[in-house]
Amino acid sequence: MKEMEIQFQLNGCDVCVDVPSDTLLVDLLRDTLGLKGTKTGCREGECGACTVLLDDIPVNSCILPAFKVEGRSVTTIEGLTKDDGRLDPIQEAFIQEGAVQCGFCTPGMIMNAKALLGKDPHPEEGKIREAISGVQCRCTGYQKIVQAVKSAGQKMDSTR
Ligand code: FES
Ligand code: FES
Repeated sequence: MKEMEIQFQLNGCDVCVDVPSDTLLVDLLRDTLGLKGTKTGCREGECGACTVLLDDIPVNSCILPAFKVEGRSVTTIEGLTKDDGRLDPIQEAFIQEGAVQCGFCTPGMIMNAKALLGKDPHPEEGKIREAISGVQCRCTGYQKIVQAVKSAGQKMDSTR
């Protein structure tokens, strides 16, 4: 397969990589760049485990060809942690509210929550449920996940 060069911003840093032209974004992130926080489940765009933000919009990286991110900005779960190691308020809220069980769906849930709270810090419960509807939690901890997103919005508001 022909190699191609892709340049994009990843978690705020400029990245330039050569990959086979049929590489999917999730494989570029996990295998080429070593960012294992983004998970793979179905690899068919159904479970949401592989969600990352592309220009602040959630996308399923398992069905997105890597070349599509050329010149754009990608944020993964690793990009939410501050340089000094502090967690994002959404990550903190997931811990405090007990919204993490096996943790497999957690990166996808948090990336969807990040996109939602970036637009609306006080979403109604229905909006939260809609925002995370593309991510399946096999541990079925949805109630605590919704509570964590609500609580993160309140926390982010108080620190603005
Ligand atoms: S692994 Fe991408 S949606 Fe399931
Ligand atoms: S916490 Fe296990 S899949 Fe959601």
